[in-house]
Amino acid sequence: MSLTPDLEALASHPYAITDPKRVPAQRYYSTDFAQLEKDKLWSHVWQVACRLEDLPETGDYIEYEINDQSILVVRESDSRIKAYYNACRHRATALGNGAGTFHGRQIVCPYHGWRWDLDGENTYVYASRRGFTPACLDKDNLRLREVQVGTWGGMVFVNMDAEAPPLEQYLDGIAKVLDPIAFDRMRVRWWRHVILPCNWKMAQEAFLEAYHVMQAHPSLSMGAADDDYDLDAFAGDFECFDDGHAHMRHPTTGDLPVKGMTKAEYFIQYNNALYFGTDAFVTEREMFIQQGLLDKDIPDDEFPAKFFEALYEYAQGAGIPLPPPVTDTTGYGHIFPNLTFLPGYGTNIIYRSRPNGDDPESCIFEVWAVQIPGADAGEPERPVLEGPIPVEEWPQIFQEDFRNVIGQQKGVRGFGVDDLMMSGPYEAMIINNHRTIDRYLSRD
Ligand code: FES
Ligand SMILES: [Fe+2]
Repeated sequence: MSLTPDLEALASHPYAITDPKRVPAQRYYSTDFAQLEKDKLWSHVWQVACRLEDLPETGDYIEYEINDQSILVVRESDSRIKAYYNACRHRATALGNGAGTFHGRQIVCPYHGWRWDLDGENTYVYASRRGFTPACLDKDNLRLREVQVGTWGGMVFVNMDAEAPPLEQYLDGIAKVLDPIAFDRMRVRWWRHVILPCNWKMAQEAFLEAYHVMQAHPSLSMGAADDDYDLDAFAGDFECFDDGHAHMRHPTTGDLPVKGMTKAEYFIQYNNALYFGTDAFVTEREMFIQQGLLDKDIPDDEFPAKFFEALYEYAQGAGIPLPPPVTDTTGYGHIFPNLTFLPGYGTNIIYRSRPNGDDPESCIFEVWAVQIPGADAGEPERPVLEGPIPVEEWPQIFQEDFRNVIGQQKGVRGFGVDDLMMSGPYEAMIINNHRTIDRYLSRD
């Protein structure tokens, strides 16, 4: 996308970005700005409500909350998912809480027992004839109010704007790039969350660039500091789409990020750091394969290639449908406005960041660790959300990121900064996200 600011359009709301290299600090704490996002972004944008695994059987539901809205996502049949505002059409009582199942294909209000089919049509009003006028009992009036639904990559998206274009259209560019990663084959290994004392965008931005790895994650930079750590060898450039989505291409230098290490040393240490530091990108499966190679006499330069050979061999034996390696994306990407992916080997880590109610300085930050299971894995259990887990109880690498954004929120409020300076090449995903937010906020 072009980064030339459309000043006229962008100046139409407070704290708009007028220089694409500078992000006004107020965007991270102003209640007015958060209100604008609530009115003009969250009520009109496609957003992930849940995983498909959350709804294995007809009648299963899960609640998704954004700002002050509660939405029930419900499996209506094997092939159809619906979403409704979580409010009884009588006196607004919530019809579901958390996750559960509507038995007998009926959604029943716990207050006075009104009922609906899973497709939202009312089936029963207690003492209706004596109690309510025909206008109240009008079929359309009694229907549960619907929210648009779409699915992609094992995830269920919702959009409160009935006029919004369909999800397929919304995801068009990015889905083509990410589909070869086979998100749809991945299943949840764990799902955890933390409440972070910072703006939802700030939490997310810690995962939208690799520029911080040298300083923030010594285990990933192997202790190499400053110019001994080659960021361009670690991270490729970003392809940013006009609708806010983006992904990273593979780095093209062909060098190792850390000078003085062999390919094998770097590869093994990197895997170890991710395994112990996240329990997500790299799992026991890959550690087992790596361990099996350590005793073999493999030339240093060939170790990564041998690892991939062994991985695919193992996958074939275990019936794990790993997709072929992809060349045009690392699988590291972002779906606007609040979903970020980081890839491993048939694994991925998915982050979702959203406002915690109306407080611009608090956010709900969730992590799904997903992996392509083997043939004998059976039907997955419905994932259970763990937490909120205190920052100090997360694996090391998460702690490093969380502490940075907590510190950042402290700084952003003070007189020390007016705006945040952005690097064009390294922080392109962040800029693209802000620019796209402004496009939503500028709409009538
Ligand atoms: S509030 Fe739901 S039936 Fe009365
Ligand atoms: Fe990080």
